[in-house]
Amino acid sequence: MENPLGIKRFGPLTFYVKDAQSEAERLATMLGMNLAYVPSGTEQIFGVEANDVLFILDGTPQAAALAAQYGNHVSEIGLRVENSRAALEAAAKRTTEQTRLCESTGVGYLRSPHDGEIQFRFIEDGQVPYRGLKKNERASAVITYPFQRIDHIVVNTQAIKPVIAFMQDVFGMKKVNEFTIRVENDEFLASLYSEVMGIYGTEQAVLFPVNEPLAGDSVSQIPAQLREVGRSHAQHIALATDNIIDSITTLRGRGLGFLEFRNDEHAKHYYEDVPKRLGKISVEEALETLRRLGILVDKCGQGYLLQLFSKRMFPEKSVPFVEIIQRASDVIGCFGDGNFAALAEALEHSMRQEAKS
Ligand SMILES: [Fe+2]
Repeated sequence: MENPLGIKRFGPLTFYVKDAQSEAERLATMLGMNLAYVPSGTEQIFGVEANDVLFILDGTPQAAALAAQYGNHVSEIGLRVENSRAALEAAAKRTTEQTRLCESTGVGYLRSPHDGEIQFRFIEDGQVPYRGLKKNERASAVITYPFQRIDHIVVNTQAIKPVIAFMQDVFGMKKVNEFTIRVENDEFLASLYSEVMGIYGTEQAVLFPVNEPLAGDSVSQIPAQLREVGRSHAQHIALATDNIIDSITTLRGRGLGFLEFRNDEHAKHYYEDVPKRLGKISVEEALETLRRLGILVDKCGQGYLLQLFSKRMFPEKSVPFVEIIQRASDVIGCFGDGNFAALAEALEHSMRQEAKS
């Protein structure tokens, strides 16, 4: 498959935050990550790491000002490439969007056409992730982390066409899936249209489901989240694990909240329907354990996938949040129709619960 920029896998993710140190410490504790990077000077910038997942918390004045305006948010999505300069030059030829190279770090930046101004960063293995950071010599050693790497990042936008076109034209991504979700019940309407854009990088797949509201829907979660943030944004970050039962148990113990079924009856039906959804595919994990932990199960090719979505990462806004995902399938880009709808419903329920409290 075409890979014009030499993308290998996802790279570091940068968040603009109001208070970098307290957010870095809080996320490290709540997500079981290591406070791996601290400021090399007086700048408010930190990095938390778990295996191949690196979150940079940027609270420098300009970043903090944007976080005050839009809430703490994902500002940059890193892509690991063979050669950052070559990737940037190739990207520049394929787009009219602004590109620049940071001379001191060799990291390339590409502005995306999202109105949210999420940037992409092209970074090589071994490159300093960010100016102003140094390794934290006093980082406490964590033996096992609850996840290994980023599986996908979901983007919410008012109109997906320009975003999709950008990912196709610049990154050489292809549409690997699409969903139209519309669930209406006595409590709410959950609706969205999503196209999953992806590229099989030389080391891992890089996947971006891109959501837009369905025409005529101004009330459900995607338009609500767009209003809340005020622009396009990364809605959730999916983190891959080899053992979701251990991961969820650990993360719950660390205080991360997860979305729940709207009532026991709904949960009961969901797990009773698992054999119907999966057909002949057998699930290795005990269904009772998955049910106790609220983990979602769906078909994926000839295998299956297990997922669970967290509540908010930062106290003040409903996005971004994380997803923990375990893939037991040889199909890389599948998401599971049933789970897409289950997430949409769980989010609507959670929004209403919060509005009541
Ligand atoms: Fe997801």
